[in-house]
Amino acid sequence: MAFTIAIDGPAAAGKGTISKAVAAHFGFAHLDTGLLYRAVGAKTLSGTSAIAAAQGLQPEDLENDSLRTPEVAQAASKVAAFPEVRAALVDFQRAFARRAGGAVLDGRDIGTVICPQAEAKLFVTASAEVRAKRRFDELAAKGLADDYEAVLRDVRERDDRDMNRSDAPLKPAADAVLLDTSDLSIDEAVRQAISLISERT
Ligand code: DC
Repeated sequence: MAFTIAIDGPAAAGKGTISKAVAAHFGFAHLDTGLLYRAVGAKTLSGTSAIAAAQGLQPEDLENDSLRTPEVAQAASKVAAFPEVRAALVDFQRAFARRAGGAVLDGRDIGTVICPQAEAKLFVTASAEVRAKRRFDELAAKGLADDYEAVLRDVRERDDRDMNRSDAPLKPAADAVLLDTSDLSIDEAVRQAISLISERT
């Protein structure tokens, strides 16, 4: 049986952790769709055109630790504004969503564009300051950041680009349930997400 859970929201709202926990809870497969855009973004940093990179993307391109850097995140957000890039990635995401056994997809446009028929939709958000603090702590632990204000600027810049592009902008689907994680621990956010989704299943 195919059952799709769409989890959207801005950077560092907790989508990734929540999506993995939700997938594990229901025994569903999980796709972090941001990785597709990051893999395309990473290829543009080494000189490939965004559209060619998206059209030629291979599953093994997603398994690369270097996709987690702030530079790749910004490049991902930039290539994500090209309609041709988004179009090249649609079929892969939709096929994943309808696989037997259930799927959780997290991203920016899963509930609105990729899977408007998803059985459950969650929009996970948090204030820009809280998200920047989480991202800063994560990057600082890996030695990839030492300036909170710079991370906050980065988060705001990416929000602004993701929310204001004309093709598939970041926004909650009309039928998505909102979950604000600003004042929640990660355990509490996961617990609430599972409970909200369980009400739909
Ligand atoms: O979720 P993430 O931070 O890994 O995503 C990186 C960028 O990719 C994000 O800034 C915008 C883009 N993206 C998108 O446009 N649509 C998606 N479904 C997922 C990510």
